[in-house]
Amino acid sequence: MEKKRALITGVNGQDGSYLAELLLARGYEVFGLVRRVGLEAPEHRLGRLLPLLDRIQLQPASLESYAGIFNAVAKIRPDECYHLAAASFVSYEFDDEFSTLTTNINGTHYLLASLKDLVPSCRFYFAGTSEMFGSAEEMPQNEHTRFRPRSIYGISKVAGFELVRNYRERYGMHASSGILFNHESPRRGHEFVTRKITSGVARILAGQANELRLGNLDAERDWGFAQEYVDAMWRMLRQPEPDDYVIATGRLHSVRDFVRIAFASAGLDWEKYVVTDPNFFRSGESVALCGDASKARRILGWEPRKGFEEMVREMVAADCESMGVELPAAAG
Ligand code: GDD
Repeated sequence: MEKKRALITGVNGQDGSYLAELLLARGYEVFGLVRRVGLEAPEHRLGRLLPLLDRIQLQPASLESYAGIFNAVAKIRPDECYHLAAASFVSYEFDDEFSTLTTNINGTHYLLASLKDLVPSCRFYFAGTSEMFGSAEEMPQNEHTRFRPRSIYGISKVAGFELVRNYRERYGMHASSGILFNHESPRRGHEFVTRKITSGVARILAGQANELRLGNLDAERDWGFAQEYVDAMWRMLRQPEPDDYVIATGRLHSVRDFVRIAFASAGLDWEKYVVTDPNFFRSGESVALCGDASKARRILGWEPRKGFEEMVREMVAADCESMGVELPAAAG
């Protein structure tokens, strides 16, 4: 039997690399869209994919070019497409706003339009986000909660979500959106708070730093484990009908909780090292967001497994290992 062909945008990100592994293990032929510069220096730009490079096929294309996306889709003719690529840092800086909005919306639109014209039977997954809820009116948030995004990134994702719904309803495409709450792992980018903390702990243990500067320690998030979240994406495309699903743990933790566990797992007292820095505070950011994933549990049979504390410890251990520092034996 011919292998199913899956196309992943954002394949070199945290989620893309886990998803590529999952799809390879499930017998897919995996194609990844990357920027052309990524192919020129794969060891620097495609670090997370290095162990997979001989098993996946990379196609250079920019999400900013309709012609580039159209040609890539025409060449690959995927059975399934996972659209993960986006400017994804929730920036509150004005100078990023225009490019975040146009790239994220156009990229999604170009992809949907190309698939509709070339392979309308392709099943499509869109990476939505809890940032779409923004200043939500209810807690926890589910698929019926009104979107009130507070960031340009959140606004761009609401627009993408609506494009997906329209392509599903107008053209009958099997297009689904996951509304994913924060999800972390040792592969998380260093700009996000969790990885900033765990790599900071490793640097302190290695003697390369003596403080860690953070923003609001009282900020709360619903943090899950990324590898489990990509499995939810795959499950959405297995359903007879396309739909939207919240993917979350349903548990809130503060940045301070994360910090405390991360430092304790390395035998360190966090209060000696963590400095709050106004530069990392975000004014008017989303309130604490907490997801209700009962629809995903009921229909997809999906549920989060790894506990918060276990995940934090694993992230610290992975950062220590990659820096060649040993964790104190009795830490924790
Ligand atoms: N990045 C960062 N750096 N965040 C900090 C810091 C800091 O020094 N100090 C406190 N925080 C707080 C932020 O204010 C926020 O409340 C929380 O930590 C998490 O911030 P991030 O890790 O940057 O993630 P995010 O919640 O803004 O967005 C992530 O999750 C979304 C939901 O899945 C990103 O992955 C988004 O792309 C994603 O949509």
